[in-house]
Amino acid sequence: MKILVLNGPNLNMLGIREKNIYGSETYDDLVNLVQKTAEENHVEVEVFQSNHEGSLVDRIQQAYFDGTDGIVINPAAYTHTSVAILDALKAVNLPAVEVHLSDVSQREDFRQISYASKACVKTIMGKGFLGYKEAMLFLLERADREGE
Ligand code: DQA
Repeated sequence: MKILVLNGPNLNMLGIREKNIYGSETYDDLVNLVQKTAEENHVEVEVFQSNHEGSLVDRIQQAYFDGTDGIVINPAAYTHTSVAILDALKAVNLPAVEVHLSDVSQREDFRQISYASKACVKTIMGKGFLGYKEAMLFLLERADREGE
């Protein structure tokens, strides 16, 4: 099982940006949690962050060819704007889980639309870093169920 964890713009600034919303743990702390979760569950993981929409689209497309079984994606601000990321997720047709650190449902109106969610099997929000762990375990259990 191979999982791709994708993070959109400004998530590299975790620990610096809006600590009252996103907390004081850093992006490296997030990557460590993802890698630890992968090790504990004997899953291969790759973590990719970009501030550029096209790079995220490229990485999603690559997932079709590199044996990725599932995607965990926090498209960050591109959640609310990017049809290109939605189309890329639809194109590769891999099970994808959308994660948001904050509870976007309780935030500004412009955050209430998620294009990515239309191509995701599940959305997890408001659980901080643990949302990524939950998303990875969900994909793992889903793959186990389908393998039965
Ligand atoms: C976010 C929520 C988005 O609205 C915002 O643009 C982000 C982070 C989250 O993880 O809570 O950058 O995706």
